[in-house]
Amino acid sequence: MVPPHMLCHPLHMLFLLLGLLAPSAATDGDQFLYTGFAVANLTLDGAATVTAAGLVELTNGSTHQKGHAFHPAPLRLRGSPKGTVRSFSVAFVFAIVSGYLDFSTHGLALVVAPGIKSLSTALTDQYMGLTNSKDDGKDTNHMLAVELDTVQNIEFKDMNANHVGIDINTLTSLQSNETGYYHDNNGSFQNLSLISREAMQVWVDYDGEATQINVTIAPLAMVKPKRPLISYIYNLSTVLAEPSYIGFSSATGPGNSRHYVLGWSFGMNKPAPVIDIAKLPKLPQLGSKPRSKVLEITLPIASAALVLTVGIAVVLLVRRRLRYTELREDWESEFGPHRFAYKDLFHATKGFKDKHLLGAGGFGMVYRGELQKSRVEVAVKKVSHGSKQGMKEFIAEIVSIGRIRHRNLVQLLGYCRRKDELILVYDYMSNGSLDKYLYSEEDGPTTLDWAQRFRIIKGVASGLHFLHERWEKVVIHRDIKTSNVLLDKEMNGRLGDFGLAKLYEHGANPQTTRVVGTTGYLAPELVRTGKATPLTDVFAFGTFMLEVTCGQRPIKQDEQGNQFLLVDWVLQHWHNGSLLEVVDPKLRGEHNSDEVRFVLQIGLLCAHPSATARPSMQQVLQYLDGETLLPEMTRADLSFNMLALLQRKGLHVMSWPCSSTMVSAGTISDLSGGR
Ligand SMILES: *[C@@H]1O[C@H](CO)[C@@H](O)[C@H](O)[C@H]1NC(C)=O
Ligand SMILES: *[C@@H]1O[C@H](CO)[C@@H](O)[C@H](O)[C@H]1NC(C)=O
Ligand SMILES: *[C@@H]1O[C@H](CO)[C@@H](O)[C@H](O)[C@H]1NC(C)=O
Ligand SMILES: *[C@@H]1O[C@H](CO)[C@@H](O)[C@H](O)[C@H]1NC(C)=O
Ligand SMILES: *[C@@H]1O[C@H](CO)[C@@H](O)[C@H](O)[C@H]1NC(C)=O
Ligand SMILES: *[C@@H]1O[C@H](CO)[C@@H](O)[C@H](O)[C@H]1NC(C)=O
Ligand SMILES: *[C@@H]1O[C@H](CO)[C@@H](O)[C@H](O)[C@H]1NC(C)=O
Repeated sequence: MVPPHMLCHPLHMLFLLLGLLAPSAATDGDQFLYTGFAVANLTLDGAATVTAAGLVELTNGSTHQKGHAFHPAPLRLRGSPKGTVRSFSVAFVFAIVSGYLDFSTHGLALVVAPGIKSLSTALTDQYMGLTNSKDDGKDTNHMLAVELDTVQNIEFKDMNANHVGIDINTLTSLQSNETGYYHDNNGSFQNLSLISREAMQVWVDYDGEATQINVTIAPLAMVKPKRPLISYIYNLSTVLAEPSYIGFSSATGPGNSRHYVLGWSFGMNKPAPVIDIAKLPKLPQLGSKPRSKVLEITLPIASAALVLTVGIAVVLLVRRRLRYTELREDWESEFGPHRFAYKDLFHATKGFKDKHLLGAGGFGMVYRGELQKSRVEVAVKKVSHGSKQGMKEFIAEIVSIGRIRHRNLVQLLGYCRRKDELILVYDYMSNGSLDKYLYSEEDGPTTLDWAQRFRIIKGVASGLHFLHERWEKVVIHRDIKTSNVLLDKEMNGRLGDFGLAKLYEHGANPQTTRVVGTTGYLAPELVRTGKATPLTDVFAFGTFMLEVTCGQRPIKQDEQGNQFLLVDWVLQHWHNGSLLEVVDPKLRGEHNSDEVRFVLQIGLLCAHPSATARPSMQQVLQYLDGETLLPEMTRADLSFNMLALLQRKGLHVMSWPCSSTMVSAGTISDLSGGR
């Protein structure tokens, strides 16, 4: 087992001797077996606990949680301090139990890392408690993880929502495969569903000499299949630190899943001890029955009361039907999993009570709700729409957008339809919208400092860049503004409502296109042609940057009642060499002048009247991250007056304040007069 050349090494002899003198420690580092965890001494953090039955419960049914459970002793991966990582084998039994039958977030992973503490800054949701946005991919993570992933994250190039992957220092897997196994008899591939609520066994084997990692998964009752699911060559000696610890990591997102480990074993330079399946603790019985479409009405046996009861039941049923009627068409069947029942949304928002009203935007009312079965907090948006035209395409797009997962975009969970009403369900953002912080009244939330604002700007830039350039097709947001930027628990800026403006683009007359967006954020060419492009989004984002830095709405008004545009005002200061005077007075004295100047300049560049002068979101991100130098801007580059330009295009600037209402600027024919 020990390579002969290493035996000759005097240091190695010393280690061998020490090993003989302290046999218990050696056993601990070289092999362990947990058949249940009732008497185990694991190191736990986050939401992780050991249940009374002896299960490790990594996440406890709350949303946006993470949990870790580690073997307390370090692994002695290398025979000597400078040696290579030796062969090792791991076996474990896990189960994922979600409140839904077809949806679970986000999975769990076996992880080898410098310690449980090295995961303390890791994030929940798609980061699975393994990394965070800043550290993902860094060599200093010294991390190997085998992920059992139940969500498809485009950010990490996930193949689907049911895969096993090998991760080195990043959640972007080096190799991943659909969950399943190859049958020993005939080699055929058998699918497995990670979220089936069934316990399954996983084996991870590393061959130190061949530097090969194998991962195998099978149903609980089955012996280890001969052919591994994944076999991947990677030299772990170049990755793992000494000492390293082994454990499990898991995180939830908007779903309320529980992730369990039932048993676990490890062997260094030898196979992992066999886990005795019969002795494993039992999974908790689920109280709630799977969702059923059939109304269960229990009728009393007493025949005398039967007729009366049926009568009442029918009346109740009819009333219930009317109350909860939905509009459902054949073509929608393919979007099934994204469809919410109106009844569930009705109950979640306590009947769309005013008490639950979060706000009323241009598109409709937004309510806060909690889904009854899963306790997931959601924001429910009721959008009224008259025409059925384009609804199928729109729903298809909404569902497609619903698959986008990015930490700077508000997650769309699904939709529901009634007559003349479209209802969209989003992940709930506890800190509300950004404009409330910028224009906070006395009793409102305290304002944000510069570091927070800068982080939000960068976050929104990254979300928008994702929509424009990283998603499978180009998504144009069409309505970027501070009231559409929501803040999550950690005060990350997240863009909401993307794509929604499209629903309003087609007016009553299909020949005309309506300009949709908010005045002050509308690019001149958008007003002229009515055609939204990524660069019209960039324009709106430029205005957004100025707004966040200046703490002023895009359309200002002076004492005399004259209206002017924020971008013109900032530009004037730039020409006068007094750029820093535009900074939000609430920030004075405690901001980084270089960063502020820099953000304002990028803002001006983005809000340039000529689309070709604007940078792409990729460039904006590079400027913001300091990867690319901002081009020198000359006076000639920036000699324009936006208001004059817009007025020449025939746009009448709406009265202030208007940032919270959506404005449709009229049809093209209305606007073309000034051309
Ligand atoms: C889960 O754990 C978190 C953090 O430890 C705690 O705040 C939350 O209340 C727990 N949820 C449940 C359902 O026990
Ligand atoms: C449990 O492990 C910790 C180290 O993580 C150790 O300090 C403690 O003594 C152990 N307790 C028992 C009962 O083994
Ligand atoms: C597993 O993934 C590898 C690489 O991504 C691929 O070549 C192979 O065909 C996959 N196998 C299956 C069964 O999907
Ligand atoms: C392979 O064998 C298994 C069990 O014997 C059987 O269920 C499966 O249908 C077989 N597949 C093929 C392609 O023969
Ligand atoms: C296995 O899963 C793949 C991908 O989800 C699917 O295309 C295929 O039909 C499934 N096969 C079986 C036998 O369920
Ligand atoms: C990994 O799987 C391959 C077959 O794909 C096998 O040849 C090799 O021995 C396996 N290695 C380990 C450590 O199990
Ligand atoms: C693996 O990496 C270590 C350290 O870089 C090196 O000493 C060793 O030769 C490598 N093993 C193989 C098989 O390449």
